[in-house]
Formats: sequence, C-alpha cells, structure tokens
Amino acid sequence: MNIILLGPPGAGKGTQAHRLVAERGMVQLSTGDMLRAARTSGTEMGKQVAAVMDAGKLVTDEIVIGLIAEQLDSATDAGFIFDGFPRTLAQADALGELLESKGASLEAVVEMQVDDEALVARITGRFTCGECGEGYHDTFKTPAVENTCDNCGSVGSFKRRADDNEDALRTRLMAYYKDTSPLIGYYYAKNMLKRIDGLGEIDEVAGRISGALDG
Ligand code: AP5
Ligand code: MG
Repeated sequence: MNIILLGPPGAGKGTQAHRLVAERGMVQLSTGDMLRAARTSGTEMGKQVAAVMDAGKLVTDEIVIGLIAEQLDSATDAGFIFDGFPRTLAQADALGELLESKGASLEAVVEMQVDDEALVARITGRFTCGECGEGYHDTFKTPAVENTCDNCGSVGSFKRRADDNEDALRTRLMAYYKDTSPLIGYYYAKNMLKRIDGLGEIDEVAGRISGALDG
C-alpha cells in the first residue's frame, strides 16, 4: 500500500511515518530528510538548496521529483509512505506518472489536520536524534534517559533544525497554504483523501491513521 502523509509543518508526518515503518515495515520517503542528508554530505545540490530551506521556502519541483524518482525502485512489499512529498500540483502529477510507470499506484492520502497554534508549539520544541532520525519534543515526547536516544541508544546526538524558528516557520506555513493545500481538493476528487484529526496524543493519532488505512 503506497500512501501520502499530507499536512502542514509540525503536523506529525515524520513521527507517524516512523511508527508505520516500525509497525508495518513500510518504507518512508521524506524529501525533507533527503534534502537535509544532501546538505550534510555537502553535495552540489545540497549547497544549492541550503538557503532556500533555511528560509522555509520550497525547493524546485525538478530537484524533489528527481530525488523521489531515484528511490522508487527500492524493494518494498508493504509500500511507500510519501512524507512531505508531493507539495505542489506539479509534484502530485509527477508522482502519479512515476508510480504508473512502475506498475504501481497510490492507495490513500492521509490529511493530518492540526491548528496553527499547536503547530508552532510542536515546531519550536522539536529535536531529533542525529543518528537514527527519531523525533522528540521538549514537552510532548522527551527521551526516557536525558540526552540518550530511546530508539538507538546514542548519547549526545540530539540536534535541532535550522528552519525551526518563528520566521522560517511563518514562511513554511505560507508555502503550505498557498502551494500544498490545493492537493487536498486534488486527492479528494480522486477519491483518495482520508482526513484525520492530528491533535491529541501521538498514540491516539497513530490509531486514527491505522483506522483510516485499514477501514
Ligand atoms: P520537511 O522536512 O518536510 O518539513 P515540514 O513539512 O515543514 O514538516 P516537518 O518535518 O517540520 O513536520 P512533521 O509533520 O514531519 O512533524 P514531526 O513529526 O517532526 O521539509 C523541510 C524543507 O525542505 C521545506 O521547508 C522545503 O524547503 C524543503 N522540501 C521538502 N520537501 C519538499 C518538496 N516536496 N518540495 C519542495 N521543497 C521541499 O513533529 C513535529 C514535532 O511535534 C516533533 O517534536 C514531534 O515530537 C511533535 N509531535 C508529533 N506528533 C505530536 C502529537 N500528536 N502531539 C504532540 N506533539 C507531537
Ligand atoms: Mg518531517
């Protein structure tokens, strides 16, 4: 089953994608994570996108479609979770064509609805493990042992994102409402949209997503 997790910055796409990977063996394809990896490894493309990402603007369709196209041959029986992709109508069209060219299809688009106030609280408290990518929050999800990742046990590897500040967040939200939210209507018209309430405990939200996928 190939699915999209659609939602604004901080909606919990990455958090819930990690759960689906652990529970169902699905493969997470996060364009945000791929772009950050390109920056860390210092590729030409990574250097090109750094300032755009830090400002909270969208990277070009061409770059992100290329990143996804490279990954679609990975083996997966359980399916892909597209996290943070597509983000424009052009990307949505490209994804449909790419999947079709592989004889695959998209089964569901889960729209995670979270109000803006909660998004700001989630984004400003977020940190992740630099080793395994597990996500945490200063208030909502703290590690069991201070400074130690619950998932991989690495010590002192936590980091915060350069675009998790108020200015960049405002730009990211604007990009979501302007360029990405039209995808809600696009997938509704294709009869693929599943809307879920993204507020509440992480476990509760996970239950709603499972219900939407299995129901
Ligand atoms: P990307 O990395 O995709 O960022 P984003 O969409 O802004 O989303 P986030 O990763 O910030 O939020 P999330 O929904 O994953 O939330 P999370 O689970 O971490 O993109 C970054 C940049 O890359 C873009 O701005 C753009 O420049 C570029 N880019 C990427 N893809 C692109 C594309 N396709 N086209 C063009 N440009 C692209 O949760 C957030 C926090 O909340 C965490 O601390 C978590 O612990 C906490 N939390 C999660 N769930 C809950 C809950 N239920 N209750 C309380 N806290 C919770
Ligand atoms: Mg994310």
